[in-house]
Amino acid sequence: MSDENRFDPNVTRRELMAGAVAAGVAASVPAGLAFADEAAPAAVPAVGGSAVEMGVKLIVNGQPHALSIDPRATLLDTLRETLSLTGTKKGCDHGQCGACTVHVNGERALSCLMLAAQCEGDQITTIEGIANGDELHPVQKAFIDHDGFQCGYCTSGQIMSAVALIKEGHATTEDEVRELMSGNLCRCGAYPNICKAVMDAQGKLAGSGI
Ligand code: FES
Ligand code: FES
Repeated sequence: MSDENRFDPNVTRRELMAGAVAAGVAASVPAGLAFADEAAPAAVPAVGGSAVEMGVKLIVNGQPHALSIDPRATLLDTLRETLSLTGTKKGCDHGQCGACTVHVNGERALSCLMLAAQCEGDQITTIEGIANGDELHPVQKAFIDHDGFQCGYCTSGQIMSAVALIKEGHATTEDEVRELMSGNLCRCGAYPNICKAVMDAQGKLAGSGI
């Protein structure tokens, strides 16, 4: 054993540990990234678990928002947690239940599967944005008229799907409604009344462009 590896009884445990940590840091920092002087800057505390944020401009329900968010934030979490638009629901968070359905540029989208950063400059519409002031959207009204919900957790996603479906010129038969809204699950099993509500709204809205 060489002299430098030999245990030195005059070195305290504290001195030994400090030396080991300093050596570990020196070994793990590439030469080009080492701090130029001893006064290294303190790490910026992470927000939402990320040390890095990015600026994103979103247009939600016609309102522009300049946000600073975690680049990994989904559109769903950004709507709910950053913009407090909690009408859009998180069910599975894996693209399988439809509870998080919103419109992106008029088309149905599962907000749990999209990054907010992907939506820069897009027109995003949530359930909060479809009524006309105090006047409910005809699809919202039809859901109330036909008891198209029980607990209501899936309802905003169902309504956002139905609104887009009708605009696309679909929902002309019950079979079509069932098929094209099969991605919107309802744990309460309110499907028969959801179907009636969508058919009723379709009859009133067809060709109106709403
Ligand atoms: S929460 Fe997005 S599909 Fe279920
Ligand atoms: S009304 Fe309860 S999940 Fe659909």
